[in-house]
Amino acid sequence: MTAKVISVCNLKGGVGKTTLVMALAEYLAGDTMYGQRVLAIDLDPQSNLTTALMSEEVWEWQYNNRGLTLPFLFKNYEYFLANGN
Ligand SMILES: Nc1ncnc2c1ncn2[C@@H]1O[C@H](COP(=O)(O)OP(=O)(O)O)[C@@H](O)[C@H]1O
Ligand SMILES: [Mg+2]
Repeated sequence: MTAKVISVCNLKGGVGKTTLVMALAEYLAGDTMYGQRVLAIDLDPQSNLTTALMSEEVWEWQYNNRGLTLPFLFKNYEYFLANGN
């Protein structure tokens, strides 16, 4: 089965891109509807989608308490893949 790619892009901020992607990912992954495997890729350096999908504990203990910032996570995604949840 080939993966379907859905891109949500717009230069203007605050128009609901992140909210839409989160809702769409949850809808498609939810077992009551489609139960699809969903990979959400956050290409915005503000990383709002990343932090929104991360639990507060993970953000606090694995990142914030170690002084790791959002720009660090964005630039060093290998670290995030190895340590993220
Ligand atoms: N459908 C909607 N109705 C009302 N408010 C919304 C809707 N979608 C997003 N918002 C709100 O608008 C603001 C910007 O949304 P966001 O998804 O962060 O935009 P973007 O990613 O384009 O910058 C947020 O406060 C969000 O809660
Ligand atoms: Mg956004």
